[in-house]
Amino acid sequence: MIIRVATPADAQYADLLCQWYVESAKTRGTGIAKREPAYVAQKMASGDSIIAFVDGELAGFCYIETFDDKTFVVNSGLVVNAAIRKHGVGRAIKQGVFDLSRTKYPNAKIFGITTSLAVMKINTDLGYEPVTFSELTASEDFWKGCKSCKNYGILMDNDRKMCLCTGMLFDAADKLLQVQVPDFAALATASFAPVSAPETDSAS
Ligand SMILES: CC(C)(COP(=O)(O)OP(=O)(O)OC[C@H]1O[C@@H](n2cnc3c(N)ncnc32)[C@H](O)[C@@H]1OP(=O)(O)O)[C@@H](O)C(=O)NCCC(=O)NCCS
Repeated sequence: MIIRVATPADAQYADLLCQWYVESAKTRGTGIAKREPAYVAQKMASGDSIIAFVDGELAGFCYIETFDDKTFVVNSGLVVNAAIRKHGVGRAIKQGVFDLSRTKYPNAKIFGITTSLAVMKINTDLGYEPVTFSELTASEDFWKGCKSCKNYGILMDNDRKMCLCTGMLFDAADKLLQVQVPDFAALATASFAPVSAPETDSAS
């Protein structure tokens, strides 16, 4: 398997990827936003996407978008060739796009919204946590991406506060603040020098 940052030359795969998005949405019967080939090609040209190949054939793709002055990064459009799913390609691509996001936008919060159990598992292993939509970007540009999803009406009926997708967030700042838990097992077996009683001044 080859996993790499996509380049402008990969635009030749944009049509096929967009067909996979449409087919996935039909098969799953859940919401997956449609993407235009030109947009996918643009993500390839800007170095904001990861592409995978297995035995020389296109295997999958995922891209990055930024919002709110690059304080939020979303990893979107994860898709794997239906013929080779459940063999670790999705996880490998998601790891690649996560690493790319952390490298290009180290201070950004990384998030996604998904109904996919596979994506929830992958995100959890990467350190994402489930959150309400209030913790995600409020950018119109992000939420208008949901317009082609069949559940868009549900999202809007709920003032964009909730929908069928689960929001998942990786906050690097939050991770840095986590308390370092001592190694209690090592402490229990460690030998300590006896503490001598402090000297007292008998004259006082
Ligand atoms: C979601 C998708 C990208 C996963 O790709 P994949 O290559 O099959 O995923 P992986 O093989 O790396 O599997 C990752 C984990 O998810 C699990 N998984 C994969 N497909 C699953 C499914 N349909 N249901 C439940 N778990 C699933 C795997 O068992 C694995 O978990 P494990 O490591 O604990 O065993 C792929 O199914 C796909 O392209 N679906 C259509 C598009 C889509 O839904 N994209 C996500 C939009 S948010």
